[in-house]
Amino acid sequence: TDRYAVVGNPVAHSRSPTIHALFAEQTGQVLVYERLLAPLDGFEPTLRAFAAAGGKGCNVTVPFKFDAFALAARRTKRAQLGGAVNTLRFEADGWVGDNTDGAGLVNDIQRNARRPLAGLQVLLVGAGGAAAGVLGSLIAAAPARITVVNRSVDKADALVASHAHLGVPLAAATLTDAPAAQDVVINATSTSLAGAAAPVGAQVLKPGSLALDMMYGPKAQPFLDWASAHGAEARDGLGMLVEQAAEAFFFWRGVRPDTLPVLKALRATL
Ligand code: ATR
Repeated sequence: TDRYAVVGNPVAHSRSPTIHALFAEQTGQVLVYERLLAPLDGFEPTLRAFAAAGGKGCNVTVPFKFDAFALAARRTKRAQLGGAVNTLRFEADGWVGDNTDGAGLVNDIQRNARRPLAGLQVLLVGAGGAAAGVLGSLIAAAPARITVVNRSVDKADALVASHAHLGVPLAAATLTDAPAAQDVVINATSTSLAGAAAPVGAQVLKPGSLALDMMYGPKAQPFLDWASAHGAEARDGLGMLVEQAAEAFFFWRGVRPDTLPVLKALRATL
């Protein structure tokens, strides 16, 4: 049986095995999907052992997405742009690295939340690995403008500079200079891990804005409460999680699962 896994540290709470088991059942694909804890200094040997034991590919999570990028012999364009890899396919002539986070986010916003991004004002809060991984896909959806704000503005500047050639107006700013009344606000910082609401003022929202935190579960709650309190439609990262998994499933198996029933099933277990 073909084996897949999510590799990370920590990895015990990953929902990916549940999601991929549901995808496999739904599409009739025969595979197993496991959790693989890699030592912080042992990502590569863990992967090599898994590949040697019948692994066909893996998802990569914190803190190994940059290591996975470095280990990939070939990379998709979107992985190259974000500088990180969250999906690997093991092939005889080398590992292929992809990044499905951005497509997952955009598909969740456009299909599940029914917000076509074309022409909208988008605020991306954060300029770390999570933000870098999705900016290219946001740009590809052709919003009117994307502003990237970050505590350390130099990282926002660098992220904008590396994507400036892609044809959508981009701006970088500090958290306090975040623009007002945005159509879509995406929290890609790790502040919700600390139980904080949002690192930007509520002026970034307007009635009917979509405010999405890439986190899900109790960690996302303060952000969701903050967004709802200011009239925005609040959305957690569970839809993005399922959508990025569907992109990975397609990358490995060439089959697109139906994500909505899986999102519903997963939501019921939260
Ligand atoms: P990830 O892979 O989750 O993106 P990261 O690369 O460490 O992790 O990035 C964390 C992001 O959260 C960064 O944008 C970081 O801001 P800095 O670049 O200024 O460090 C942001 N972040 C973390 N804690 C924060 C806080 N207390 N207030 C504001 N931003 C914070």
